[in-house]
Amino acid sequence: MRFSTKAIRAGQRPDPTTGSIIVPVYQAVNFVFDDVARPHGFEYSRSGNPTRTALEQCLASLEEARFGLAFGSGMAATDAVLSILRPGDHVVSAEHIYGGTFRLFEQVCRPRGVNFTYVDGTRPEAFAKAMQPATKLIWVETPANPLLQLVDVRAVAEIVHDHGAKLVADNTFPSPYFQRPLTQGADIVMHSTTKYVSGHSDVIGGAVLTNDPLLHEAIKFYQNAAGAVPGPWDCWLSLRGLKTLAVRMRQHETNAQAIAEFLEKHPKVERTVYPGLPSHPQHELARAQMDGFGAIVTFQLDGGVEQVRRFVKALKIFLFAESLGGVESLVCHPATMSHATLTPEERRKIGITDGTIRLSVGIEDVEDLIEDLDRALRVC
Ligand SMILES: Cc1ncc(COP(=O)(O)O)c(C=O)c1O
Repeated sequence: MRFSTKAIRAGQRPDPTTGSIIVPVYQAVNFVFDDVARPHGFEYSRSGNPTRTALEQCLASLEEARFGLAFGSGMAATDAVLSILRPGDHVVSAEHIYGGTFRLFEQVCRPRGVNFTYVDGTRPEAFAKAMQPATKLIWVETPANPLLQLVDVRAVAEIVHDHGAKLVADNTFPSPYFQRPLTQGADIVMHSTTKYVSGHSDVIGGAVLTNDPLLHEAIKFYQNAAGAVPGPWDCWLSLRGLKTLAVRMRQHETNAQAIAEFLEKHPKVERTVYPGLPSHPQHELARAQMDGFGAIVTFQLDGGVEQVRRFVKALKIFLFAESLGGVESLVCHPATMSHATLTPEERRKIGITDGTIRLSVGIEDVEDLIEDLDRALRVC
């Protein structure tokens, strides 16, 4: 089966009891046993639930993974991956990652004895240099939030595997439609399914996908032991979102490309970053590694927070809100929103200034979106 067919059908057989073509919301805590020590299939919904299984199988299929696990949020998925680490273990992470991931690394994992080294993710050799005997995991996000730097997954995977460590890729920004890191050498893919996978800004969720049975068993054990599972209704919403992932992503990207080209020519915009622009320093890598460029466009105004305030207040269609990946267009100010947990010094080091603005381009009529940006830029 190809991508869209899998998105609509994988893991989603018609309901055996009623014939419903849509997987029902199995809003149940527990399931009867057939006999002593013989569950009928499911026992208790923290350990497993049929609606969640359908979502896990569908996501695994789209990422070309053997195994999938769904979580109550992207951060819960990240935490579950990190559960395989022990005190004294070391992680090499790209420095350009979601602020919440950085917070989990530094404020939760480091106090428990796990060490982290951050490197420039755009340089594979930087990962090689940072490896230590205790290095167990390499964490990358590509394209990264919010400045859209890419990591060369194939090159980094080779380095990681020579060292006997495991490579984790946060694939939230491109979604499986535009990029499948397991096919390029990553060992684990992690998602905030809150974003493109669900796609309608109405559900928080996460996922972990892998081909490695040992990693899967360890993370599945933690999923049940720690219990950060999504409810059946949230799984159902994500499954419904997935059915239109391909058509949404195509429209998201068409709109994003047009907006990036508009912003790049605009005299008030200092710099526009979008992997689909030939001016992006890793445009060629994006073409080779991804099947499309995604729908996050980041740009720079040079007038600081005051100019950003005037800009966002003048917008009428773009909504000033956290998050990304929904059908509606959003504008975010990373310095005070997604990356507020970093110190100003940490932000400066990775290139986020007070004038950095991130757009999550939706699937509205692109003419309306460009008119909205044009009007706000004129008055800011
Ligand atoms: C790239 C990336 N990874 C992980 C997360 C965390 O996901 P969640 O908010 O679903 O916990 C986010 C959230 O914004 C994100 O953008």
